Amino acid sequence: MSDVLRRPIPIWQAPTGSIAGPDLCIAVSNAGGLGSMGLTWTDPDRAQAAVTTVRENTNEPFMVNFALAFPPHSLMAVLDAGAPIVTFSWGQPSTLIDTVHSAGALAGVAVASAMGASIALQDGADFLVVQGSEAGGHVQSTTPLEIVLPQVLQIAGKTPIVAAGGIASAQQIAHFLLMGAAAVMLGTRFVATNESRAHNEYKRLLVGATANDTVLTGCFDVGWPLAPHRVLRNSTFNTWEAYGYATGGARPGYNDILAKTETGVSIYRYEDTAPMAGMNGDIEAMCCYAGTSVSSINSVLGAAEVVTELWADAVTHMKPPVA
Ligand SMILES: Cc1cc2nc3c(=O)[nH]c(=O)nc-3n(C[C@H](O)[C@H](O)[C@H](O)COP(=O)(O)O)c2cc1C
Repeated sequence: MSDVLRRPIPIWQAPTGSIAGPDLCIAVSNAGGLGSMGLTWTDPDRAQAAVTTVRENTNEPFMVNFALAFPPHSLMAVLDAGAPIVTFSWGQPSTLIDTVHSAGALAGVAVASAMGASIALQDGADFLVVQGSEAGGHVQSTTPLEIVLPQVLQIAGKTPIVAAGGIASAQQIAHFLLMGAAAVMLGTRFVATNESRAHNEYKRLLVGATANDTVLTGCFDVGWPLAPHRVLRNSTFNTWEAYGYATGGARPGYNDILAKTETGVSIYRYEDTAPMAGMNGDIEAMCCYAGTSVSSINSVLGAAEVVTELWADAVTHMKPPVA
């Protein structure tokens, strides 16, 4: 495994769209994990500025992510700014891996099956992220992590495999590392931290929820159609369910404006936008992404505390029992 990927603590923070900005990324990498930023929807100037900010505040490695369901407009900008690791999800990057390598960076690919893994390995990925169907946010996978991870490990050879989806406890971290993952990647756990850009009400809802409160659905598809996502069951979902999963504009309250951003942009009921700090309106009814991992999230903490406390506990679960 490349030294850049070998972190003191094998806990990686998942890219969680715009919720994962520089503050969260810096805190996780400085704590010994691997921080990340989701830059799919960030324009090149702001993406470059975000990478520069992180580099000014940590000497540690970090990742940036592009979901390839959208054109990676800011890829060259972040490579120029010196992003050391790029991950791609929701598509096979093929020659984009060469582009990343030419800039001297490492490329990882998020996959959801052995076939996806095989293609990414052939294209020269430096590591793979295996996402299980327990994951929060948009979910590429139809298979639980427990099943898909060994399938990918079997064909991975020496390429590091990172396990993602539904993980937020020390026991789970120990379990997937002992299965052979090089690291674990946690998304929802880091949404509920002080440094995340999520709205406080959204963080509060995560703390109060369990896995049974999440659902894998197509409900919030405006902005990103045909991409299943795991969210908290909320008033929007429950009403949509009660109306028999009506489609398109026939959905109840389709034209409702739920909230406004700081700059006054309207958020509509079925939009894929998560509640961010500075938004005002009916936060509960918005698209509150959450993995089954919410069951293990009991408080909003500092990101460094999450990394160090989970790792200290995970280590105890990996020690052989004393005879
Ligand atoms: C709020 C939120 C936003 C997400 N945005 C992205 C993204 O922009 N790109 C991506 O590859 N994955 C994204 N994901 C999925 C994560 O990368 C990861 O697979 C998932 O969080 C793992 O499951 P967990 O949330 O149970 O830890 C997102 C997840 C959440 C919760």
